[in-house]
Amino acid sequence: MTSIAHISDTHFGTEDAPVCEALRRALLHAAPDLVVLSGDITQRARRAQFRAARAFLDSLAPLPVLALPGNHDLPLFDLFTRFTGPYRRYLRHVCPTLAPLWQGQALAVVGVNSTRVLRHKHGALPAALVRQVAQQIAELPQAFKVVALHHPLAVIEAGDARNRARGADDALAEWTGAGADLILGGHIHLPYCILAGPASRQAVLLQAGTAMSTRRRGGQANSFNLVNFDAGGGRRMTIEQRDYNAHARAFACVSVRQAVFSAAGWVLDPGPRP
Ligand SMILES: [Fe+2]
Repeated sequence: MTSIAHISDTHFGTEDAPVCEALRRALLHAAPDLVVLSGDITQRARRAQFRAARAFLDSLAPLPVLALPGNHDLPLFDLFTRFTGPYRRYLRHVCPTLAPLWQGQALAVVGVNSTRVLRHKHGALPAALVRQVAQQIAELPQAFKVVALHHPLAVIEAGDARNRARGADDALAEWTGAGADLILGGHIHLPYCILAGPASRQAVLLQAGTAMSTRRRGGQANSFNLVNFDAGGGRRMTIEQRDYNAHARAFACVSVRQAVFSAAGWVLDPGPRP
């Protein structure tokens, strides 16, 4: 069995210190094979914020981390840096590549950069990038293929439609067609798990809330996701959402979803009633 923890939108600079420590404990205790951090790692792409993020990621050792930038990881007000070296601090402090790939025996995770210097907070997936990622997915030998990016490819609330990455429909069609099983995203600080993509071949789309920032959306708690991949006797994914409980000062499981691969593609159980 392989597992990943999916955290997002840490927004260092606005982190809630007790939540940060509880997250560190929860991740080390869960001991996944990989931690995926789907962007907005810092609040304003400042050096001190990247250094704090680096210290946090180092504190997760020996867990490997696959990270992606979010729109907040590009300088916003420092226009000189935004246009001359927008990813310089990210590449130096977080990850030396914008196209990370992690491969285990049964699972591969492809990281995709959905931020664009000229798009401010909105994301975009150019056609050439979508095709390149689809080809990469198709060539991976693992039983489970995961794509991670910052901006959501599908949303559940009408007001979030503008937050989808430009090119999201093409990306969903091409990546699911190439065999993507799970697509991870963040950005809107709203956790949910749905099927997405053309009816002929859907993938499970999993969004994470903000893992430790005080920039929580509505009544949402800080949260992260834990996914178990089981390739024995049919492919199955078990997806847990873990929310921060302020009284217990710890993260606890609040929902468990099962996704099973059948002849008709991925089937997702209906999940907890609202
Ligand atoms: Fe974002």
